[in-house]
Amino acid sequence: MSDGFQEDDDDIKYGVAVCNECKSAFPVEEFIGVFLSDADADKGVHRKMLEQRASHAPADIQEFINQTLARIYTEYETEDGKWNREEMRYYDAEVDTEKQRIRMLDSMKSIPVWRIFIPRQKWIINRILPDIKGRQVLEIGGGVCRTVYKLFNPDEFQFQYTGTDISFKRLMVAKMAMPSSDFIQASALNLPFKDNAFDGVLSFGMLHHLPRPEEALNHVNTKLAAGGFIGFHEPVIRPEISPFITGISRKIFRQYQHSEHDGKINLKNSLKVLENQHHEIISYREQISIVRAFTESLLGKFFKKQMNTRTAIQILESVDRFFINTICRLSKKFGPNAVLVVTRKKKQ
Ligand SMILES: C[S@@+](CC[C@H](N)C(=O)[O-])C[C@H]1O[C@@H](n2cnc3c(N)ncnc32)[C@H](O)[C@@H]1O
Repeated sequence: MSDGFQEDDDDIKYGVAVCNECKSAFPVEEFIGVFLSDADADKGVHRKMLEQRASHAPADIQEFINQTLARIYTEYETEDGKWNREEMRYYDAEVDTEKQRIRMLDSMKSIPVWRIFIPRQKWIINRILPDIKGRQVLEIGGGVCRTVYKLFNPDEFQFQYTGTDISFKRLMVAKMAMPSSDFIQASALNLPFKDNAFDGVLSFGMLHHLPRPEEALNHVNTKLAAGGFIGFHEPVIRPEISPFITGISRKIFRQYQHSEHDGKINLKNSLKVLENQHHEIISYREQISIVRAFTESLLGKFFKKQMNTRTAIQILESVDRFFINTICRLSKKFGPNAVLVVTRKKKQ
């Protein structure tokens, strides 16, 4: 059902989708499908969206809406629900108003492609580009989906892109940036798609925000067709360094704002999950940012402008590459603090 207007053939601005099987109603708002589980839904926001839709809906759909609202109330206190709503509120806050969303869109347009994470994500994208035309690609925790927007535009590279995130407001910015793509608000632990629906899944710095990153990899894998890829960029736990030291150094060298649920993934366990799901590693790269983080935090306050130039960042990143290719290889004391991984699900 749609009580709004249709922009493209399959784009609905306001409406409600219903699932006969799970007896649920999901609002569609501002072209974004709100497919949150009962536990993840925000009582206030979700209720308002569904109630607005209910007033225009036929009786059988109203019944689904009422059942969904009743369940949201009983499942509200689960640990995952609380965790996910905290993430949602944190990442919504920066783009809460129309003015903030426009500002964010402008900053996405102007952010240089050499800024720290983008070259890493480009490294992943370059490995999947040759085979992307006509494929279905899912991004989990894409936020404003700036990487895809900057480097991997679905219209230009001719693939079907679906961006998901727990933050509805971030997805509104993503939709402004890429109006012909689809955006769904959903948790990476609870994706509302058919099994084997995608040819590829991307995750840029999001698995480490989940209560159970390895479970998410297993779950994402069910949505992936045989032969499909998973590409991710994540910070990793370094068993050789105590969590106490890691915590302190993160506070000192912290260079960007992150939510409270900013953990790290266990690399060994994550790769094991993928191996058990019959994935082979196509490309793998270790990252470290000791020299860059140290230098930036030391000099960044006084030489902010100079430290922010392409040349400065590239030099520091090269020193870190050298560090990881020499000292980290020789010494068990230094492991990577992040990894770039691309795997492929073997055809059986
Ligand atoms: C560090 S940001 C990375 C955003 C984006 N991938 C990028 O590279 O700019 C982490 C993202 O994970 C999202 N997130 C947190 N928990 C999530 C969950 N359970 N399911 C989906 N996305 C989630 C946040 O809303 C946020 O957009």
